[in-house]
Amino acid sequence: MTNQTVTTKPILVLGGTGKTGRRVAAQLRERGLEVRAASRSGKTRFDWYDESTWQPALDGAGAVYMVDMVDEPVEWNPEVSVRAFCRQAVAAGVERIVLLQARTNEEAGGKSLIGSEAEVQNSGAEWTILRPGWFAQNFDEGILLDGIRAGEVRLPAGEGLEPFIDCDDVAAVAVAALTEEGHAGKTYELSGPRLLSFGEAVEEIARATGREIRYVALSPEEYVAELVAEGVPADYAQMVADLIGQIREGKGAHISTGFKDALGHDPRDFAAFAKDAAATGVWDA
Ligand SMILES: NC(=O)c1ccc[n+]([C@@H]2O[C@H](COP(=O)([O-])OP(=O)(O)OC[C@H]3O[C@@H](n4cnc5c(N)ncnc54)[C@H](OP(=O)(O)O)[C@@H]3O)[C@@H](O)[C@H]2O)c1
Repeated sequence: MTNQTVTTKPILVLGGTGKTGRRVAAQLRERGLEVRAASRSGKTRFDWYDESTWQPALDGAGAVYMVDMVDEPVEWNPEVSVRAFCRQAVAAGVERIVLLQARTNEEAGGKSLIGSEAEVQNSGAEWTILRPGWFAQNFDEGILLDGIRAGEVRLPAGEGLEPFIDCDDVAAVAVAALTEEGHAGKTYELSGPRLLSFGEAVEEIARATGREIRYVALSPEEYVAELVAEGVPADYAQMVADLIGQIREGKGAHISTGFKDALGHDPRDFAAFAKDAAATGVWDA
């Protein structure tokens, strides 16, 4: 493990406006590196469904942070999109790809969440795969924000435990893998340092905000019906319910060491996340 930066070419960050990509771009810029933060609305335009946007984003880039579309409510076939993108990236001179996936081998909504891995591993570029568990930022930037603001988080998670990881920590591992030696060919499973139920996580946020917020355990059927009533497509609602079901069934209830393996120190605790997020006012009702 070294701190030496090995690329001087621009680094293309897909999902550059998202929870992890935004942080990867910021941390790379802090190191003085040239970054192309790319997405449909990003400064560099990139759309997985418009191949004409790929080459301009790739021109001259030396490395790519890759976020795929598996958890978006869209059709997604990595054997087509990721394979074609990797081929184009390597032809354009990309030497290194860091791929964001998820800490599960199980399907959700009938699809694999790690289906892009083989494509990146077979791309010919150096690769590192990140498999994080549930993001702490789901509570302040993602699907749980509305519930926190409304004072009630309704999920089919039962009392299942999950070691929520901070997206700043996911980004820190991505940046190391993009810029330093010693991470090629590795798959890092990433988690926070402490197992929490969703009820306990909500309690931490309630404490940090001084507000009353409660967790309500739903059945999977109730949850899917509520999402569909809010206009969420049924197959996407089922995928999210399946993912949360994995936590309910205890499949997330283990700590992973990938963060410390990669960076040599411990990841952030959920309480630190909750304190900092509360201070921004994002959870004020
Ligand atoms: N949430 C979790 O707890 C969790 C846990 C483990 C793994 N993951 C994995 O994390 C990944 C999502 O990453 P994230 O949370 O950092 O992102 P995110 O916050 O969900 O944001 C999605 C990003 O993708 C971009 N995007 C959406 N549609 C696009 C398109 N058609 N073409 C190109 N870019 C598009 C969005 O920007 P625009 O709208 O501007 O295009 C945005 O930058 C998924 O692979 C998921 O499986 C999530």
